[in-house]
Amino acid sequence: MIKAAFAGKPGLEVADLAASLTKDPTAAPLVSLVALADDRVVGQVLFTRVRIEGHGADVAASILAPLSVHPDFQGRGIGGRLIERGLKELKEAGQELVFVLGHPGYYPRYGFVPAGARGFSAPYPIPDRNADAWMVQALQPGIMPRVQGRVSCADSLNDPRHWRE
Ligand SMILES: CC(C)(COP(=O)(O)OP(=O)(O)OC[C@H]1O[C@@H](n2cnc3c(N)ncnc32)[C@H](O)[C@@H]1OP(=O)(O)O)[C@@H](O)C(=O)NCCC(=O)NCCS
Repeated sequence: MIKAAFAGKPGLEVADLAASLTKDPTAAPLVSLVALADDRVVGQVLFTRVRIEGHGADVAASILAPLSVHPDFQGRGIGGRLIERGLKELKEAGQELVFVLGHPGYYPRYGFVPAGARGFSAPYPIPDRNADAWMVQALQPGIMPRVQGRVSCADSLNDPRHWRE
């Protein structure tokens, strides 16, 4: 499995990435959500701005990264609810596309489909064996066929260490 920052990195790295992104002006507009249990943060998700370099590139697009749920609270639907709520907020804010690099057995439950086959390349090449981990979903009807190109993230997420295996 690909080990991007948002697909299985240790907790401190995820926390560092989330902190950097929330301070990064190139990440805006962003959606940041936390899950609370007894006033304690037990889960978080962040969606930050991406730009698409290519055809029909003038589109409002975001990427989901990172997502994490405290181990004691996993498997209770918290991750799923964070994703669904985030997608709803993005849609209401007029975002048109959202990308994710993550487990292809998890994110398709929430509407993501393979992005490479639809003409979107990741900021850094994804090995063929992990191609399905690079995913996208349309938040507005009819948008997907109009756009193709290379996705570029906020500065702190464009760091290659977040994208290598
Ligand atoms: C991935 C993560 C965010 C899911 O949060 P969660 O609150 O446990 O998720 P939910 O309760 O909504 O969903 C649980 C389901 O996701 C599946 N799942 C959890 N992690 C998975 C993974 N890495 N790959 C595939 N499926 C996964 C579980 O098997 C479970 O499946 P089931 O419903 O068929 O039993 C959480 O496990 C986590 O923080 N993991 C460590 C960090 C990480 O890997 N983040 C990025 C994921 S690509």
